[in-house]
Amino acid sequence: MEILVAYESRSGRTRRAAEALASAVRERGSNATLKALSETTAQDIEHSDAVAVGCWVEGFIVLNVGPAKAALKAVERLPAMGGKPTAVFCTYAVNPRTTLATLRGHLEAKGATVVAENASPRSHPDRGAAELAERLCTSPQVT
Ligand SMILES: Cc1cc2nc3c(=O)[nH]c(=O)nc-3n(C[C@H](O)[C@H](O)[C@H](O)COP(=O)(O)O)c2cc1C
Repeated sequence: MEILVAYESRSGRTRRAAEALASAVRERGSNATLKALSETTAQDIEHSDAVAVGCWVEGFIVLNVGPAKAALKAVERLPAMGGKPTAVFCTYAVNPRTTLATLRGHLEAKGATVVAENASPRSHPDRGAAELAERLCTSPQVT
């Protein structure tokens, strides 16, 4: 199985979360490819059996807290995902609030089937990676 882990990271924490997820996927015997979300192409999506999309939480004080705007912009540029099993994840400092639900909604609008989600604090970006990998790899849509 081929899993694409696409991430938007400004200072490296979400990249670390993506790396932890990729390692956990490989430990399960699948292949994982890491890619910046902004550089993810239609071919990258097409060549993977499942996708994980992660970003950092961006807000202003407590207003407008949600997925990093750069991540939503990159998601808009993705091709139609045709029901592809997809996991969403994020890293945050204080509280992710509705970040995962918003990211999920944008991906579902692209036709993704979101099967798992995880928010990890920036102090522990690898938290939850093993569970996320397990749920992504054992999703009924992934065979
Ligand atoms: C401009 C800016 C706004 C942020 N807003 C929030 C926020 O509203 N809530 C929160 O929990 N974290 C917020 N953070 C913290 C980041 O989401 C967190 O540090 C994240 O792990 C950074 O990921 P990265 O290292 O991949 O860029 C903000 C960070 C920045 C730079």
